[in-house]
Amino acid sequence: MSHDLESLKHQAALQAVALIQSGMHVGLGTGSTAKYAIDELGRKVAAGELTRITCVATSEVSHAQALALGLNVGPLTTQPFDIAIDGADEIDPQLDLIKGLGGALVREKLVEVQAKRLVIIADYSKQVSQLGEKAPLPVEVLRFGAHSTVKRLEDMGAKGQLRRSGDELYVTDNGNYIYDAHFAADLSSLERQLKGMLGVVETGLFLQMADIAFVAAPEGVRELHR
Ligand code: A5P
Repeated sequence: MSHDLESLKHQAALQAVALIQSGMHVGLGTGSTAKYAIDELGRKVAAGELTRITCVATSEVSHAQALALGLNVGPLTTQPFDIAIDGADEIDPQLDLIKGLGGALVREKLVEVQAKRLVIIADYSKQVSQLGEKAPLPVEVLRFGAHSTVKRLEDMGAKGQLRRSGDELYVTDNGNYIYDAHFAADLSSLERQLKGMLGVVETGLFLQMADIAFVAAPEGVRELHR
């Protein structure tokens, strides 16, 4: 079996989708790993292996992918998700996460906070001993006054930049900007302060949300529980 990262992401995704049962309401993640899970769910539904599946996607891209596969994908309602499956940018030993390098952190958090089980899928390169070790923390900020919000973030110790997409600033599905921040301090201790900051919409810290992580490595897929 090939052990390149794409193959590992795929293996993790297959294990997560194996947890989905007919009749479930499913949260669909965003990113290159979640894409494999959506493909597999679409395949199972098309093959009749799963029936009565309803889904909500965490980005316009995942929504379009799910629709193209013929999945029953709708808007976010108050209905809890039986399961949500998504990737992550960093996973610590407590299954706390950094997410949002794909830009979908707000919708991901809105969907996944409503999930009875949040299942994370990743290759082993995403495991860290401490959040912030490799990845910046994405912070979604309102466009209006973004430079003032960035100044507030930098006044509390952030070093970073507004994310770019070519020559332009990157704009999320919600019409906002993302500031990719590095902090010297422990990230989990900053969450409350960040969320209370004027102009900040949401952060990519997903604390005590993930229930299971399937982490694929060349020696096999490990199933981790919080
Ligand atoms: C999207 O906003 C992110 O939270 C993704 O879930 C995360 O970036 C993982 O993406 P990959 O699976 O592409 O690494």
